[in-house]
Amino acid sequence: APSHIGIIGMGVMGKSLALNFVEKGIPVAVYNRHVPGKEEHVASDFASSNKGFPLLKGFDKLDDFLADIKSPKKILLMIPAGKSIDQQIDQLLPFLKEGDILIDGGNSFYEDSNKRVQELTEKGIAFLPMGVSGGEEGARKGPSLMPGGHQKAYKMLHPYFQKIAAKDAQGKACVTYVGPDGAGHFVKMVHNSIEYAEMQVIAETVHLLRFGLKLSPQDAAKVLKGWLSSGLRSFLLEITIDILETKENDEFLLDLILDQAKQKGTGTWSISTALKFQIPYSALFEAVTARQLSANKSDRTRFAKLYNHRFGAFAEDKVLLLDHLKNAYALSRIINHETGFHLMQEVSKALDWELNFSEIARVWTNGCIIRSSLMEELATLFKNSPSIIEDRAMMGKIKEWKPDLAYMVGLGLQHDFPLPSMSAGLNYLLGRITENSSANLIQAQRDYFGAHTYIRKDDPQELPVHTDWLSLKNKSRTI
Ligand code: 6PG
Repeated sequence: APSHIGIIGMGVMGKSLALNFVEKGIPVAVYNRHVPGKEEHVASDFASSNKGFPLLKGFDKLDDFLADIKSPKKILLMIPAGKSIDQQIDQLLPFLKEGDILIDGGNSFYEDSNKRVQELTEKGIAFLPMGVSGGEEGARKGPSLMPGGHQKAYKMLHPYFQKIAAKDAQGKACVTYVGPDGAGHFVKMVHNSIEYAEMQVIAETVHLLRFGLKLSPQDAAKVLKGWLSSGLRSFLLEITIDILETKENDEFLLDLILDQAKQKGTGTWSISTALKFQIPYSALFEAVTARQLSANKSDRTRFAKLYNHRFGAFAEDKVLLLDHLKNAYALSRIINHETGFHLMQEVSKALDWELNFSEIARVWTNGCIIRSSLMEELATLFKNSPSIIEDRAMMGKIKEWKPDLAYMVGLGLQHDFPLPSMSAGLNYLLGRITENSSANLIQAQRDYFGAHTYIRKDDPQELPVHTDWLSLKNKSRTI
């Protein structure tokens, strides 16, 4: 019998998704990219090492692979973002017919996906750029899927995606048609920047617990377990507890890991997108910067000596501190999500994508890396509220926990803890709720040195005006 889906790319994600499909009764053909003419057996070896799944077929030749997939062909690309996607599409095009469907399940940059949707539509090929989250385990057991692009093609794929996706609390599959063009990849990119910030805020919190409150990794894990069961359930917090508890002989594995964070690009893309659309992205921006700062270990080691840098221990009452820290962490998370959703809201408006934020939050309630009880709240919140920051219940929490975040950021900074995401998050929040900002002075300075003009508060027409500042008071400069 012919295969229903073809998967190209035998990395961990491609393999895990293939097994997930066949386990759900969907016949799958797999193929691995390789240098044309060169013999390779990755795909056939993978199929033969999974004999327990008779619906899985591996092909080492592209023609055989394509011939096995029933029409209209549905081919899922699970290969690295960038040039490889275009090369693979070019290689496939001569074999594809109108109505065939290509899906890009990698972390491609959404602007590239926008272009590909257009170019392929002109050629009669339906293209679905799809965000896939959940790592290896998610792909194997149930990922969160964020497909966008060609909507009619999505309808044909929905029954398949529904079977392999994670299920939300109501049993509904964590997959939804996100929007046109590269919207699926855009939303996945924002997911990843929230992921970065959530990871960073946990990392900052654990550092405060260990070196400010002087808790052992095990005791820090105990504290986090308490948080987990009192309203702060999340996948990332849960894995952090496991990490803190993992020992290798007598040492904590965490302490054997070099503190240089790596990244593959989606975080920086989110920042450049936020800059492009002029949307503030502070806490999420800082999570990327923190990874960049960590990368230069040799400088940090030298400078730490030059500045005699060490973390100061907190003298304050531990019970009170733990309470402040829990609330500070909880609020930082709300701010991270507000920042990411705000970017999606603004870009959706600008590009006319009509993203459905309740649905996006819903498909993020399971399967993906940022799944959490907060995400479950957001899936409901966006049905009734335009934003997190304006939601009544959220406002209550934000108001209540703001002093805790300010206190912990202040205390941490005074004791020489870098807290880039937490402090940027607080600044972002304060910036968004400040009516009289200091930007009037910025405008005055711009007008002073560059005649850039400003708008007066008392001008109902809001016309740009310029002041000749020097002559006004007959001032002279000293520099
Ligand atoms: C997911 C993840 C995943 C991402 C990794 C690595 O949702 O499953 O977001 O897609 O690629 O987390 O990201 P970095 O290497 O940039 O940390």
